[in-house]
Amino acid sequence: MNLLYNHLSVNEQGHLTIGGMDTVELAATYGTPAYIMDENAIRNQMQTYLRAARESFGADALPLYASKALCFTGIYRIAAEEGMGVDCVSGGELYTARAAGFPASRIYFHGNNKTVRDINDAMDMGVGTFVVDNTEELLSIEAHAAARGITQRILLRISPGIDPHTHKAISTGSVDSKFGSAIETGQAMAIVKLALEQQHVKLAGIHCHVGSQIFDNEPFKAAADIMTRFIAVIKAECGYELEELNLGGGLGVPYTEYDREVDYAAVIREMAEITKGFCVANGIKMPRVILEPGRSLVAAAGITLYTVGSVKEIPGFRTYVSVDGGMPDNPRYALYQSRYTALIANCPNAPRTERVTIAGRCCESGDLIGEDMPLQATKRGDILAVLTTGAYNFAMASNYNRLPRPPVILVRDGVARVAVRRESYEDLIKNDL
Ligand code: LLP
Repeated sequence: MNLLYNHLSVNEQGHLTIGGMDTVELAATYGTPAYIMDENAIRNQMQTYLRAARESFGADALPLYASKALCFTGIYRIAAEEGMGVDCVSGGELYTARAAGFPASRIYFHGNNKTVRDINDAMDMGVGTFVVDNTEELLSIEAHAAARGITQRILLRISPGIDPHTHKAISTGSVDSKFGSAIETGQAMAIVKLALEQQHVKLAGIHCHVGSQIFDNEPFKAAADIMTRFIAVIKAECGYELEELNLGGGLGVPYTEYDREVDYAAVIREMAEITKGFCVANGIKMPRVILEPGRSLVAAAGITLYTVGSVKEIPGFRTYVSVDGGMPDNPRYALYQSRYTALIANCPNAPRTERVTIAGRCCESGDLIGEDMPLQATKRGDILAVLTTGAYNFAMASNYNRLPRPPVILVRDGVARVAVRRESYEDLIKNDL
């Protein structure tokens, strides 16, 4: 069957492998459910972005890893070793990055409602750049910076008015957003002017992020175009030339054989052609470009292993295959009806003759990993693998029904190591007084 990615294969025992390691053995060693990640697949994707960004935008271009996609100390160490920056969006992500020793100067601090504690923590840490969402936040950061006698480097989050899911540049789609200030309403220019009046923030540039899991190149090109033009408008109106342009993340990832592959380098090249072309034609200094992918760096690298429990056929309706995890470790079907590819890891080459609903073990009928999924015939005790779970699975996991969160196991060059240990029942009650 189509395993979607090169780091997945089938060995002589007929078992699914990840990074060359037998998933049935991994399940036996680490238990299920477990997230298994191929570390080389993550590093390769980071290198793809680094190379493409530098080739297309210039040697100073910097891709950030949007760490909301998958957050634990080890992933910040990997990002640091590869030379990436990171996007953190909360005090908890900042704390994790700091614990991992990630260089604060390469952290971009996001969020549409940074708390006083977040701002203080980030300034204590010396976070390089704040991405400022709104006027009130701008003034708050100015006040904090003034009290500390520092100048804080900032970008402003701008809404370019692109709805990526309609494939068109339309205005209302993203003007009505909790994030940023829209160009169209004049609020973007107003916040730029306000930022330029402040004494303790340095306006380095502007940021946008048009959406997530986008396969079409057009929204990215439109964003590059609109944002570069806005830099020119700022120069003309304020006599101030921005040095940095952050074009966000959002590139898609195949979850099933029906999703197309994405040529990440090509999308980056197309954005660069637009930005560079406009700058040259209009006498604007080419800004340093920042990219901010999350999903496309880690999703494909991960799989989740479960043990099959009951297999229940309801004649005339459907077959439920229940596994020992569910919406607490992967809430994405319950939230977004996201499609996944599943297979039986102990016989992935067997034909997928069944169409099943994969159910979790929570007391909730919506606790499903997917419906109408092709799968090999299966029985209690089989190991079931769900592919492409590296992004927004562990990061969004909960303890619903008091299920402990699964471990994150990194495999690399034939060696597996626990990057995040499985939660214990003791962990579950450790904050209960
Ligand atoms: N930058 C900003 C400001 C973002 O808000 C996001 C994602 C990213 C970068 C990274 O986007 P990516 O490359 O991962 O698409 N929980 C949802 C995805 C939410 C994305 C939120 N922001 C899911 O499971 O599909």
